[in-house]
Amino acid sequence: MALALIVVAHVGGRARASEQADSGWELLRSRAYLPADFDQEVFDALWTTWPEPLRSRAERASPEERRRMAMERYGLDPDPDDPSRALQYVRGATGSWTMSCLACHQGQVAGKVIPGLPNSNYALETLTEEVRLVKVKQRKPFGHMDMGSLLLPLGTTNGTTNAVIFGVALMRHRDADLNIIQRPPRFDLVHHDMDAPAWWHYRRRAGLYADGFAPKGHRMLMQFLLVKENGPEKFAEWEDEFRRIQGWIEALEPPRWPWAVDAALAEQGRGVFENHCASCHGTYGPGGSYPERMVALDEIDTDRVRFDSLTQKERSDLNESWFGHRGRDVERLKNREPPTGYVAPPLDGIWATAPYLHNGSVPTLWHVLHPEERPTAWQRTRSGYDQARVGLEITAAAAPPARLPSAERRSWFDTSKPGKSAAGHDFPAALDDAEKAAVLEYLKTL
Ligand code: HEC
Ligand code: HEC
Repeated sequence: MALALIVVAHVGGRARASEQADSGWELLRSRAYLPADFDQEVFDALWTTWPEPLRSRAERASPEERRRMAMERYGLDPDPDDPSRALQYVRGATGSWTMSCLACHQGQVAGKVIPGLPNSNYALETLTEEVRLVKVKQRKPFGHMDMGSLLLPLGTTNGTTNAVIFGVALMRHRDADLNIIQRPPRFDLVHHDMDAPAWWHYRRRAGLYADGFAPKGHRMLMQFLLVKENGPEKFAEWEDEFRRIQGWIEALEPPRWPWAVDAALAEQGRGVFENHCASCHGTYGPGGSYPERMVALDEIDTDRVRFDSLTQKERSDLNESWFGHRGRDVERLKNREPPTGYVAPPLDGIWATAPYLHNGSVPTLWHVLHPEERPTAWQRTRSGYDQARVGLEITAAAAPPARLPSAERRSWFDTSKPGKSAAGHDFPAALDDAEKAAVLEYLKTL
């Protein structure tokens, strides 16, 4: 219950929030909407697949310590109520582990779990590979994720996933009413990894996702359930639960910077921000407003693979399906034309949501403000926080070390790979160093 208490503290005073929000959180923690991924026996044997010296260390450790090591390796966080469970998976009465929305959408910063913070450590591909090895040894059948990962990459850098393409691939197996199409046409998929956005932005947006094309609504949140085991009747049955989950997400507040701030410098930074950044990102504090502005690709100039990965037909098929109430929800969108680029996101709680940009290619806000200094390759520590540069504590290199085992390679962000460029968003070039320092201080306060 500890996390629920934090949530209640966050939403205190917002009457509409409490009841619906609490039950939304309970659903996220306890409801298995997908078939189970693995069981406790598999989870407890994962260490047997690890490289040395980790494996010998795990062998000597107590079972509790071994579980902690496993959670650390896969980017999971122990449930404060029961550290043998991970917050990101639902554990059933028989010991089954099932991925939930929280797998990608619940993480920690500087070692502290914060509701609605994306999981920037999630090692889904490594977890799935190692689960498969254990299942072979234990003669257990493969699940949908074990099979899926043979067909699609799940995520080539820890903390980011190919989630958009999972959705595209699954949606091509459905008609507009979510009936399953037995023989879908063959298709190409543009695989790429994305950094999940903070959930506390949900209530500020009308259109979801980097390119803002999807009208928000509880049904849109249900795309993650599109596995073949869930027919159209399941979606109808679970609709009301997703209204409650949406209620919980809508009530989330951004976390406050927990360390000292130079208030005078931040105030100076506010002025610079209002002149150079607010036209896209909005204003903050009392009376603040968020314009939800679409910025054309040639102006923003960040990595374009995410933009190109969806066809206009795919976008409109989603909006014209059950998920968008057959096109009705689109009426509520601010940007109703086909997207021309990416929407400038709200920056509340931005200090907590490193890495930055839609693909998670930039490790700190300082690097956002100094485009020419962005590392071409970097590796983060598990929970180290860089208070000076505001973001992840990293080691930078010209390239990741050669010939790393795949699990370790995924701990590096390599901006030379497709979909992973850290270029673009050169707007801070208009600022001098003193102005950049002031804006950095101001960003801590949002
Ligand atoms: C495998 C990782 C993963 C899982 C699991 C997942 N998401 Fe996401 N989610 C993402 C990514 C990545 C994006 C960003 C997609 C984009 O911008 O194109 C996203 C975007 C969103 C957004 C849009 C936020 C915004 O500001 O645009 C919402 C809301 C959301 N997810 C809710 C959910 C819910 C509810 C579930 C469970 C039913 C879920 N997600 C499961 C990865 C995931
Ligand atoms: C012309 C519009 C525009 C201006 C001006 C602009 N930005 Fe942005 N900003 C964007 C867009 C669009 C994105 C998303 C780009 C992406 O993810 O590829 C973005 C992303 C960001 C991000 C990363 C957000 C995240 O969640 O990862 C930060 C931080 C940011 N901007 C700060 C600033 C600051 C500070 C300024 C002023 C110096 C500024 N921006 C000026 C459009 C703008």
